[in-house]
Order: sequence, then C-alpha cells, then structure tokens
Amino acid sequence: MALVLFSCQSEKKENGMQVAEIEKKEFFVVPGEDEPIDSVLVQRGKVLISYADCYECHREESAGKGPTFFDIARRYPNNQVYFKLLGRKVVSGGSGTWGHPVMRAHPKLELEDAMAMVAYILSLEDK
Ligand code: HEC
Repeated sequence: MALVLFSCQSEKKENGMQVAEIEKKEFFVVPGEDEPIDSVLVQRGKVLISYADCYECHREESAGKGPTFFDIARRYPNNQVYFKLLGRKVVSGGSGTWGHPVMRAHPKLELEDAMAMVAYILSLEDK
C-alpha cells in the first residue's frame, strides 16, 4: 500500500487527490476519516517517544533524517487503521515512502506502544 502512495513526480491534482507541497517534495495526502482523539493514548505516546530514539531522526517541524512529525500528521488520517499500519512500520523499520533514507527497526518495541506513539504523532496536525 505504501508503495502505491509514493510518488514525487505526481501532478498536483492527479486522480482528484489532494497533494501537499513540502520542501519542494510532494506527497499524497492519504484520504480517510479522522476519529475522535483519545487523549490518554496520545499522552502515553508522547511519553514513550520521549524515552525512545525517535527524535534522533524526526523533529516536529524541521526536516531531520526522517520526515517531520507534522508532515506525517498531515499525510495520514487520524484513526486506528493508520495507528496500526504505521505502528508496524516503526517496529519493523522501512523506507521508500518519503524518499528519505531508511528508518531502523525497533524490534523491542511492543506494537501497542508503537501505535500509541503514532497516535501522538498524528494528533500534532494543525497545532
Ligand atoms: C534512524 C533514523 C530514524 C529513527 C531512529 C526513527 N525514524 Fe521514523 N522514519 C525515519 C525515516 C527515514 C522515515 C521515512 C521512511 C520512508 O521513507 O518510508 C521514517 C518514517 C516514520 C513514520 C512514517 C512511516 C510512513 O510509512 O509514512 C513514522 C510514523 C515514524 N517514522 C515514527 C517513528 C517513531 C515513533 C520512532 C521512534 C520509536 C522513529 N520513527 C524513529 C527515520 C527514523
């Protein structure tokens, strides 16, 4: 699924999809419904992230080795499906979605904790 979504050369309104422009790179904003934010989960994710290595590569606003948390939040709908999808990617590591280098795997991280972290990241939208 991630591979289908990645396209830097894509045109602005291709397939009627909204495309955001960040640092001269474009990415598809994945369409989907937002769910009400579970503030307990989000707080847990925030704490977990502060004890993990995430900020080595990610910052909220400015580009680091990985995409900014704000860009990630803009890109994905805020719901359980994406908490799980992206949570799995945090655990297993990966590349190819943003045109950045590889995110290392976090094999010791429980999927449930990774999902809380993603819930925090996606909650950053429009803040
Ligand atoms: C070694 C650097 C590095 C570290 C450490 C790191 N990331 Fe990443 N992260 C990346 C890169 C690079 C990407 C973009 C991967 C791609 O293009 O598919 C990324 C992508 C992501 C994405 C978006 C995935 C997607 O498919 O769009 C999320 C969510 C994420 N990281 C969360 C985290 C969390 C949470 C942590 C801490 C547990 C973390 N990252 C630690 C480098 C890192």
